[in-house]
Amino acid sequence: MAYRASENRYQSMQYRRCGLSGVMLPAISLGLWQNFGEVDTPANCRDIVTTAFDNGITHFDLANNYGPPPGAAELTFGRILNDDLLPYRDELIISTKAGYKMWEGPYGDWGSKKYLMASLNQSLKRMGLEYVDIFYHHRPDPNTPLEETMSALDLAVRQGKALYAGISNYGPNEAKAAIQMLKQMGTPCLIHQPKYSMFVRDVEHGLLDELENAGVGCIAFSTLAQGLLTNKYLDGIPADSRAGRSLPNGAITSDKIDAATVDKVRELNEVAISRNQTLAQMALAWILKDSRITSVILGASRPEQVTDAIACLRNSDFDHDQLQRIESILAD
Ligand SMILES: NC(=O)c1ccc[n+]([C@@H]2O[C@H](COP(=O)([O-])OP(=O)(O)OC[C@H]3O[C@@H](n4cnc5c(N)ncnc54)[C@H](OP(=O)(O)O)[C@@H]3O)[C@@H](O)[C@H]2O)c1
Repeated sequence: MAYRASENRYQSMQYRRCGLSGVMLPAISLGLWQNFGEVDTPANCRDIVTTAFDNGITHFDLANNYGPPPGAAELTFGRILNDDLLPYRDELIISTKAGYKMWEGPYGDWGSKKYLMASLNQSLKRMGLEYVDIFYHHRPDPNTPLEETMSALDLAVRQGKALYAGISNYGPNEAKAAIQMLKQMGTPCLIHQPKYSMFVRDVEHGLLDELENAGVGCIAFSTLAQGLLTNKYLDGIPADSRAGRSLPNGAITSDKIDAATVDKVRELNEVAISRNQTLAQMALAWILKDSRITSVILGASRPEQVTDAIACLRNSDFDHDQLQRIESILAD
């Protein structure tokens, strides 16, 4: 049946300004790294995306290598876009990235202008788009001059193949240099995409301050630590969970779910229960309490996870005791 978006889609989502730009992003965005590959059920992929949009999630985050196999998530998203979301294209912020290995030979990886431009052209083709809203360099390249990589982002924007430029996984000093270069080129950096969760807090040591000073937005990924910061692993590893499925390319594996970690998660879960929310909701709210965070990118394997996550916005304040309790659990 033809999809019609919910008329209530803008009623409960919060939108936050991305740095000092004109762009507002939903507090929760949807990422398609996992669960949108060839092995995943197309109807479920469609349900996740349309549930997200029906609830005000206007931002969908992709990359050239998301799948499996690499490229498959862009193809899946392109089909959903073409079948269901095309009438709403102007209500969407769609991002993609290049920076990890995509094809054989010297031009299919890292940060050369040759690779970035070829990859962006391929991404546009896979998704059936004329332009993406944000094009990211996915990770710093130690062997390519930063100026060349930034000039590729600048070129993509000048050619109209991307509206905005972004960087991901850059440390504070690398980010500062990239942001300055892009500014000089006349294509300001819109956004940085780092990993940030209760368990991975490097961004608190310099990067968030740097981005705030530069007026650049910040969108955090793996804020649920790939599902670890939910209640799903408290009683073992479900076969249909990410860790239970033994997925390739950086997906969480069962050896990361050790007894000490599960004990911590159990204690965090008790704090969440005392706040009348799920641990997933508390973990997202905990990231969003920092006004320097523009958005968190949620990964989801089913539509109910999207609606569960969004409900975090109804209970996002923490009192002093709750914050102290969380800090002491994380410090143990
Ligand atoms: N720039 C980068 O280098 C980079 C790297 C990684 C990710 N990202 C972006 O960030 C996005 C999210 O990353 P991620 O998938 O690692 O994020 P995540 O949100 O930390 O983990 C997603 C997983 O958590 C579980 N989950 C989600 N909501 C839940 C809920 N309400 N209750 C219980 N479990 C829930 C699901 O696991 P199950 O599958 O087990 O159900 C889901 O697949 C990616 O799709 C991508 O767009 C970017």
